[in-house]
Amino acid sequence: MKKIEEYVRSIPDFPEPGIIFRDITSVLQDAEGLQLAINSMQEFLKDVDVDVIAGTESRGFIFGVPIAYNLHKPFVPIRKKGKLPCETVSASYDLEYGSATIEMHKDSIKPGQKVAIVDDLIATGGTIEAAIKLVEELGGEVVKVIFLMELAGLHGRERLKGYDVESVICYEGK
Ligand code: PRP
Ligand code: MG
Repeated sequence: MKKIEEYVRSIPDFPEPGIIFRDITSVLQDAEGLQLAINSMQEFLKDVDVDVIAGTESRGFIFGVPIAYNLHKPFVPIRKKGKLPCETVSASYDLEYGSATIEMHKDSIKPGQKVAIVDDLIATGGTIEAAIKLVEELGGEVVKVIFLMELAGLHGRERLKGYDVESVICYEGK
């Protein structure tokens, strides 16, 4: 049986020179790879008391929804700014150039609910730091943060101190 890292395609110098892009489309387009990725991420919730799975647009949706479905839990989308039609809370975070904003519906999480946040990748940790802030603003308790991949060289995990962070694959570099 192939290991999950063997399904990830690494593209040197994309989107710019010096960056190795870790491509998940090669995982998704293989039936075994897809099962392995979702099962491996879901495994981190085996003994966890969780009420809600939240995922960040867009790649976090790919993995968050099947995990929520399998566990028979609700899924809450954390969306990029301007997409959600009802009342929202929002948080901004820095990108290499400029900043981005993500939003959640105010009624998507009830105070006291235990939330697991799912995304494909932690790089700088900015996206998930903002996502955690939103969940907590709504009164949710972040009980787990799950990634398929982690770029350890960018030290994103250090921004998430105090949270229970798991990744299936850890790359040493950036
Ligand atoms: C990518 C990736 C993570 C985030 C990681 O999303 O899917 O969500 O960046 O980076 P960070 O840890 O430095 O915040 P991106 O915003 O490129 O959009 P996408 O998911 O819609 O492809
Ligand atoms: Mg993303």
